[in-house]
Amino acid sequence: MAVEKKATLVFDSGNNIELPILSGSLGEDVLDVRTLGSKGLFTYDPGYLSTASCESKITFIDGNQGILLHRGYPIAQLAKESTYLEVCYILLYGETPTPEEFATFKDIVTRHTMIHEQISRLFQGFRRDSHPMAVLCGVTGALAAFYHDSLDVNNERHREITAFRLLSKMPTVAAMCYKYSVGQPFVYPRNELSYAANFLHMMFSTPCEEYVVNPVVERAMDRILILHADHEQNASTSTVRTAGSSGANPFACIAAGIASLWGPAHGGANEACLKMLEEIGTVDRIPEFIEKAKNKDDPFRLMGFGHRVYKNHDPRATVMRESCHEVLKELNLSDELLDIAMELEHIALNDPYFIEKKLYPNVDFYSGIILKAIGIPTTMFTVIFAIARTIGWIAHWNEMYTDGIRIARPRQLYTGYTEREFHSQIPKKSDKA
Ligand code: SDX
Repeated sequence: MAVEKKATLVFDSGNNIELPILSGSLGEDVLDVRTLGSKGLFTYDPGYLSTASCESKITFIDGNQGILLHRGYPIAQLAKESTYLEVCYILLYGETPTPEEFATFKDIVTRHTMIHEQISRLFQGFRRDSHPMAVLCGVTGALAAFYHDSLDVNNERHREITAFRLLSKMPTVAAMCYKYSVGQPFVYPRNELSYAANFLHMMFSTPCEEYVVNPVVERAMDRILILHADHEQNASTSTVRTAGSSGANPFACIAAGIASLWGPAHGGANEACLKMLEEIGTVDRIPEFIEKAKNKDDPFRLMGFGHRVYKNHDPRATVMRESCHEVLKELNLSDELLDIAMELEHIALNDPYFIEKKLYPNVDFYSGIILKAIGIPTTMFTVIFAIARTIGWIAHWNEMYTDGIRIARPRQLYTGYTEREFHSQIPKKSDKA
């Protein structure tokens, strides 16, 4: 990256500081502030609204134009013409696979979908009514115990094997979280099924009856996985990068990503969005909730609306909206919640508050309705987001190593006490038995 542009910080003292401005292949320029620390100055940016935490070649987002590219390929084309596993290959290796490369990739993923039988016993430690995200986080972290000694994170081949293990096993563990919550036996993966169909099979088949996957539902699930696969330096991906920057076990790092994704401001929004639509209940109650969302004193927000980066439309929501109608038509379902969602979208997009704040439906707004139509329980929505985002987390974790890893160690603006003498208020002998 050629350093051609510069910026100068001008101080009253006259000790100005010149900083390089770096340009990428697309998107905003960045001010390279790496030398500021040595000059006794930090940047201050809680929430990282104006901070580029790394250089990356994986995903590009233009929030104003509503553009999302994975390795340069527009998300709408990938969602319409590719499959989730092909998108996984593209995110991981950077190029589209040849038929032979894809066949090998698919075969490896397919043949690693089973998990160690010992792991099945881990579930017994959870209450049956545990939230599946809590179980997924715990079991994924526990995988670190199964794949720790043989794993050298500095070895590229070990990192590739880890990628295969996580990509292969996440749907299996996710489906087990659901089966455990409903008291049904775990269902083993089937190698002849596609990635999406296998997950649906493990979710809904029982020893008494094989679940027959509807091809439209299979396609919708695959598309949901594609649309959630990666999204640049979002909160959970940044969590995985930060955890991984210390050289930690990648399974533990992915568990940290799952924990961050669970939040309702992030991946938990799809579950929260459906609960909100259910709470609204009828179209005529929408204005009441729009007012709540606009009320500064009310913490309520319209779940599924707004985005830190997209200040126009979320391109994924556009594709998801089409899928939503396809699935409901195919399954001959009219969904009252969809009616509420469509009316809510219409009202919000014409309300001055949402227009001024640039709040548009995001990827989570429609995904919940499709998942509900497929028969996925609400508590499993974010689990499915986690399955999809596992490849994004791994691709960024891996990229961090290939680019040369440095531990993430932000500083702070300290506003606490200055130094003072310590005098305990606890009488000396009272702390003796
Ligand atoms: C995902 O980062 C990613 O890429 C995430 C993601 C991915 O693929 O990884 O895209 C997935 O997480 C999508 C977002 C899902 N979350 C939700 O749908 C929850 C509802 N949305 C909000 O919580 C919020 O919009 C965020 C968290 C998504 C974005 O928050 P920001 O950018 O920090 O914006 P903000 O909270 O500072 O809000 C800016 C203004 C505020 O008003 P003011 O204080 O300026 O007066 O907009 C208002 C907010 O009150 N606002 C909303 C709102 N979202 C923002 N008001 C009502 N309803 C909302 N949903």
